[in-house]
Amino acid sequence: MRVIFSDPTLKRLGAYVVFTSDGKKLSSGAAGLGPETLGVVKGALKISRFKGERGKILEIFTPPKSCAEKIIIVGIGKLQDIDELAAQSIGGSIFKALSSSSSRAGYVLLGEIKGRKISNPKLAAHIAYGCMLRSYRFDKYKTQEKPKNKKSLVSVNIMLKDLSSARGFFSPLKSVLDGVFFTRDLVTEPANVIFPISFVERLHALKKLGVKLEVLNEKQMKKLGMGALLGVAQGSAHEPRLVAMRWDGAPKSKDRRPIAFVGKGVTFDTGGISIKPAGGMEDMKWDMGGAGVVAGLLYALAARKAKVNAVGVVGLVENMPSSTAQRPGDVVKTMSGKTIEVINTDAEGRLVLADALWWTQKKFKPHTVIDLATLTGAIIIALGYHYAGMFTNNDQLGKKLSSAGEATGEGVWHMPLGDSYDKQVRSQIADMKNVGGRDAGSITAAQILQRFINKDIAWAHLDIAGVTWSKSASATVPKGGTGFGVRLLNKLVEEHFEQ
Ligand code: BES
Ligand code: MN
Ligand code: ZN
Repeated sequence: MRVIFSDPTLKRLGAYVVFTSDGKKLSSGAAGLGPETLGVVKGALKISRFKGERGKILEIFTPPKSCAEKIIIVGIGKLQDIDELAAQSIGGSIFKALSSSSSRAGYVLLGEIKGRKISNPKLAAHIAYGCMLRSYRFDKYKTQEKPKNKKSLVSVNIMLKDLSSARGFFSPLKSVLDGVFFTRDLVTEPANVIFPISFVERLHALKKLGVKLEVLNEKQMKKLGMGALLGVAQGSAHEPRLVAMRWDGAPKSKDRRPIAFVGKGVTFDTGGISIKPAGGMEDMKWDMGGAGVVAGLLYALAARKAKVNAVGVVGLVENMPSSTAQRPGDVVKTMSGKTIEVINTDAEGRLVLADALWWTQKKFKPHTVIDLATLTGAIIIALGYHYAGMFTNNDQLGKKLSSAGEATGEGVWHMPLGDSYDKQVRSQIADMKNVGGRDAGSITAAQILQRFINKDIAWAHLDIAGVTWSKSASATVPKGGTGFGVRLLNKLVEEHFEQ
């Protein structure tokens, strides 16, 4: 599906979209329907209960001879409330309405919408962005799709006067969109397709954007002493990988230290010897969600040529039970020198991150580190599927993340850290154990990560277990892999870390 910005005078066959604000006020673009059809629209509005509330839709059929196959009236609510996020969700609703008809083309008669927080071309760009975000499909393995389920919608034309500035606003959004889709693809692929080595192959797509890749294999990680990451990997026939993606977009004269993003990339999590129950285990194909977001984020930053030095690191392993797998009770030594008693082999993400985080700080000397991980089921108990859990040693960074979350609709909820929680992971025979008991499970996991963060670094950990996969669609996110985190962190970088 393509979104095109086009001239309002064009008139071709397709489904037409017009807008009403609250109080049933039709927007000026509706005049483009011509007097006869416009009359039908007004009549329908008059007798309908629909008042133009944002996200609500009224579909009507049109008089013969009209080039509109049907007309979709989209509510946009109060004009003064429309911001970028609202425009995106309007775009998502438009896509949903258009794609459920059999039309091949949609024509969005935007016209000049006045009295809003954003300019008309910016509004157009964000509607286009929302439309595209909602249009994501993953159907490469469907070979028997019935014709009625095949997608018919080929293009959505957003019609307004100021085409070139709409295109200008859309261009960086398209880069972020491509990053989100890159992540969604990785997350949705099954684990027989995406394993550490094939994940790395996918990352080669970033090279054409100017991202530099550095890949460590098992031997190199052994040499560096990454016993925790390797302990998780040792039960699998798939070799692990640790990858750094570098995007150096900051002007040469400025601070060269990067911001680092680190992702948990467990390409499948069976639990290992502490094996998970069968029900729902297939979900663990997306236990590489953190790594997927880091990859998609670097994609977005490079594609829009962000003026930032950023490094993305992903620890890629598969957690399997086998005769070579690590056992409960094993003690592993991390690259930092600290030892961990592995009480439960299913608490593997923190083991992978312990080494990935340490290596990232040693190698790249970042000023800020943000890690993402589908780390704990406990975060779903705490926050459900609506927020990611955010843990940080730096309140300023926390505030920046919270406001980026509000701006993008990818919300984070600030969770606590503290010594009393840290005590829960003390071990009798090693420096720490990898689990802290049932209570505060997400916090004790974060405490373990914090033990591998240098004090002078601004660090935040995002537990994205509840938000990486969605069971129901929202305005801009279809069911399935969400790509949660790409828009959030792109916004964070854009607002606070570009030079
Ligand atoms: N990958 C899981 C966490 C998870 C659960 C992600 C559900 C997405 C949905 C993680 O590796 C895990 O197994 N965590 C355990 C930790 C426990 C053994 C301390 C958990 O949450 O049960
Ligand atoms: Mn696990
Ligand atoms: Zn896991």
